[in-house]
Amino acid sequence: MGALLNRDRLLDLAVRYDTPLFVYFREEIDRQINKLVALEMPYGYTPRYAMKANHHPDVVRHITSRGVGIDASSSHEAEAAMKLGVVPELISLTSQQSAHNLTKLIDAGIQYNATSQHQLEQYGRQFSGTSVGVRINPGIGSGFSRKANVGGPTSSFGIWHEQIDAVKGLAVKYNLIINRVHTHIGSGTDLREWEKSIELSLAAAEQFADITTINLGGGFKVARMLSEQSTSITKVGDIINQQITAFAQKTGKSLRVELEPGGFLVANAGYLLAEVDDIVSTGEDGYIFLKLNTGMNDILRPTLYAAQHPIEVLNDATENTDYVVVGHNCESGDLLSPSLEDAETIETRTLKTAEIGDVVAVAGVGAYCASMAAHGYNGFPSAKEILV
Ligand SMILES: Cc1ncc(COP(=O)(O)O)c(C=O)c1O
Repeated sequence: MGALLNRDRLLDLAVRYDTPLFVYFREEIDRQINKLVALEMPYGYTPRYAMKANHHPDVVRHITSRGVGIDASSSHEAEAAMKLGVVPELISLTSQQSAHNLTKLIDAGIQYNATSQHQLEQYGRQFSGTSVGVRINPGIGSGFSRKANVGGPTSSFGIWHEQIDAVKGLAVKYNLIINRVHTHIGSGTDLREWEKSIELSLAAAEQFADITTINLGGGFKVARMLSEQSTSITKVGDIINQQITAFAQKTGKSLRVELEPGGFLVANAGYLLAEVDDIVSTGEDGYIFLKLNTGMNDILRPTLYAAQHPIEVLNDATENTDYVVVGHNCESGDLLSPSLEDAETIETRTLKTAEIGDVVAVAGVGAYCASMAAHGYNGFPSAKEILV
């Protein structure tokens, strides 16, 4: 479990606020913000936060108060960011779905990246003569799970890199200036894949005469378990720096860099505090199941991706037991301890021997948990969230 784990502090919060409860620690978010904003690029740099990772108002307000902009993944999210007081000029919108309020967003000053030819055409019809960004699928993808891979031929995200001539045609038709190229190949990308992705993104950028900015998305691999390894944002920053410098020498174009990580900033800042609601077994040749008062309606990543999260029973037991940890939903896939290879296969975790009523902490839940769960399933209310 993360370095922040302070058993007494978590137990105190569980008693004070009741469970299930998401607790986000500001110190941990700050530690990550410091690394993101410390990067230096030769021709300018804009860091943003992909708020889809965790859109709790206090989290968004805190991150943006540190001078980090916003990457919105839908026109609704962009509007929510504005309602939270984020300056529109600091918001970039890159959405799978066409914006329902494009005029309002553009008039407010939000930066827009079209992610398909259809979106570019929609933009062009309304905003002829202005500049716009395009999201390009550079031809490769990456991700800790195939479901977190958003590049390459199996992905619908962005305009396929071989269709840049069509993009240029639309730019001429609507008198648009394409000044930004955006790419994002997946969540959980490691150093070597980053290197290749930057190279391909720059190759796409080179094809646009008016290019000023390259947005390389987010997707830094974040280690939640001790067995996992994070991608160093500093090392990726060095590679970007070198490639941007070489690009300028080759083409005479000095590109501003934008990065927009989500998970990197918040994943390990969050703990889900739950209670053991029940303990059942399937006999001598079966398993002992630890049932929590939370589940896929608060945390879907294990069910969706076979994602692994540290789990700890916060009691004083000296003995351990092997448990399958499950959620409270009427669904056999509501599993917090899936096998690494396959979300449908159960795995046991060796945990402190628990009793009904004990508090359990699930770590690494600051990103893509509260914001990406099966809310409302089985009628369970969603876990509360607090930033401390
Ligand atoms: C366009 C874009 N930018 C940034 C991100 C953030 O990714 P991560 O949370 O892995 O950093 C995503 C995630 O899907 C994305 O689609």
